[in-house]
Amino acid sequence: MEIQRRAFLKKTGSTFVCLCMAGGEALEAAEKNIVQYAVEDSKFEIDLNWHPNLKKVGGSETFQADNKKIIVLHPDENSYKAFENKCTHMGGQVAYSHKDGFMQCALHGSRFDTEGRVVKGPADKPLTEFRTSLDKNRLTVYLS
Ligand code: FES
Repeated sequence: MEIQRRAFLKKTGSTFVCLCMAGGEALEAAEKNIVQYAVEDSKFEIDLNWHPNLKKVGGSETFQADNKKIIVLHPDENSYKAFENKCTHMGGQVAYSHKDGFMQCALHGSRFDTEGRVVKGPADKPLTEFRTSLDKNRLTVYLS
């Protein structure tokens, strides 16, 4: 447990995410640091106090947990969602737009709703979802 509490401090570098918006709107680009968490008993805990963007409704953040990238969304007041951040088409990284209500792959534009279901191809399979639970400001993501 002590390892997990300290794990958020380990930054793994950065990745560039390009999100193409619906209706031909301008491209929105954001550079994000990906925080690495140690997985213990097939789960990891996120202290939301260290992730204010994720704490607010509409926020999202991608984490590295062992060898997986996990995108966590806060799409509405009462839920957090977690998915493997690996597009089911060819493995591209997705980014979440709360305004548009979907995650979009940076490579070929597949879109997934907040349940991980495909709403626009070329992907034809849903994102892999992981169960979450919230206890005050501690969000646990279960990888199995
Ligand atoms: S890899 Fe995601 S749409 Fe092709």
